[in-house]
Amino acid sequence: MILVTGGAGFIGANFILDWLRLHDEPVLNLDKLTYAGNPESLASLAGDARHVFVQGDIGDRALVDRLLAAHRPRAIVNFAAESHVDRSIHGPEDFIQTNVVGTFHLLEAARAWWMALPAAEQAAFRFLHVSTDEVYGSLGPGDAPFTETTPFAPNSPYSASKAASDHLVRAYHHTYGLPVLTTNCSNNYGPLQFPEKLIPLMILNATRGQPLPIYGDGMNVRDWLYVSDHCAAIRTVLDRGQVGETYNVGGWNEMPNIAIVNTVCALLDEMRPDPAGPHARLLTYVKDRPGHDRRYAIDARKIDRELGWKPAETFESGIRKTVRWYLDNMQWVERVASGEYRNWLDRNYADRSAT
Ligand code: NAD
Ligand code: DAU
Repeated sequence: MILVTGGAGFIGANFILDWLRLHDEPVLNLDKLTYAGNPESLASLAGDARHVFVQGDIGDRALVDRLLAAHRPRAIVNFAAESHVDRSIHGPEDFIQTNVVGTFHLLEAARAWWMALPAAEQAAFRFLHVSTDEVYGSLGPGDAPFTETTPFAPNSPYSASKAASDHLVRAYHHTYGLPVLTTNCSNNYGPLQFPEKLIPLMILNATRGQPLPIYGDGMNVRDWLYVSDHCAAIRTVLDRGQVGETYNVGGWNEMPNIAIVNTVCALLDEMRPDPAGPHARLLTYVKDRPGHDRRYAIDARKIDRELGWKPAETFESGIRKTVRWYLDNMQWVERVASGEYRNWLDRNYADRSAT
């Protein structure tokens, strides 16, 4: 079996659902169930013996030691993290705790477990760390996309904490020989994403007739990848990636935020017209994110050339599926968008009056 951490979050849940559609190999899912973790995302696996869920922290060394000894996974895929840049600006501590200290404890547990394995199992073992393009910092308009050798220059507490975890993972290979792999991926979108992130937030607000808050001038650029393509890239790297290497993963799809939001509005106009008028009437420019990175772009040629992965979904097909999924799953959205979520909206948007 494989151990997946953070499997009740957006990408982790998509990864487990895709994995169990394609394989019979069981998954042990260790997730702390923070505000971002949602067991309902995995409800379709209820009663499926191939999915074993354990609520817990990657930083709980005793728990992880017990789980490794009891389940003997052949690989660990580490998704668990605090993942939202705006939250890291309001409160960085959880990011340091999980992304840095938590990853450190997980690596220590993995190292102890791996060192005690018989030689054949030791050779086959993998620790795959899921990371982000944000570790490379921000690009200017004419700069070449990030490659695997672009120096790290993280700008937010979130990206700095992910960069620190990437460095630890690298060091555990270099120093101890732990068979690690790292992926650095661009912005994901798709089903099951928590509606604090741009695309699901815009879908939810638009369907409620609420303002669509665009930070700054709306011209910050991100490189968008449909989540199932990211999951396929991770499976590819786990299968065939060269130990100790990092692989950039991206969609070759750079777009400014305002274009993304206008696309979402146009799809909602088509799929669920609002009698009050086009959804784009709700666009509202608000105070910018502090330290807002201007542009990310991923050069994904290495994973294509060496491992044969490329995205299957275009942005047009992926965003259409995504908007459809949210409209068809409003109960999921409404349930996650209660309680703590409302407190978050107050914290993040109250002092961002329209500009
Ligand atoms: P998410 O916030 O939706 O989910 C994170 C999950 O981790 C949640 O289920 C949460 O409960 C769990 N978790 C948090 N702290 C934990 C801890 N200490 N122990 C165990 N579980 C814990 O995040 P996501 O968007 O699914 O991102 C998953 C990973 O992919 C992260 O490492 C993130 O940095 C990386 N990533 C995300 C994107 C993106 O666009 N979302 C892009 C590139 C890389
Ligand atoms: O690049 C990969 C990263 O992408 C991941 O590592 C992070 O986990 C993930 O959250 C994402 O980070 P971003 O900061 O790019 O994503 P977010 O959805 O928060 O914002 C996308 C862009 O939209 C960004 O330029 C900020 C802008 N934005 C966001 C929100 C929430 C707005 O204009 N308004 C908003 O309300």
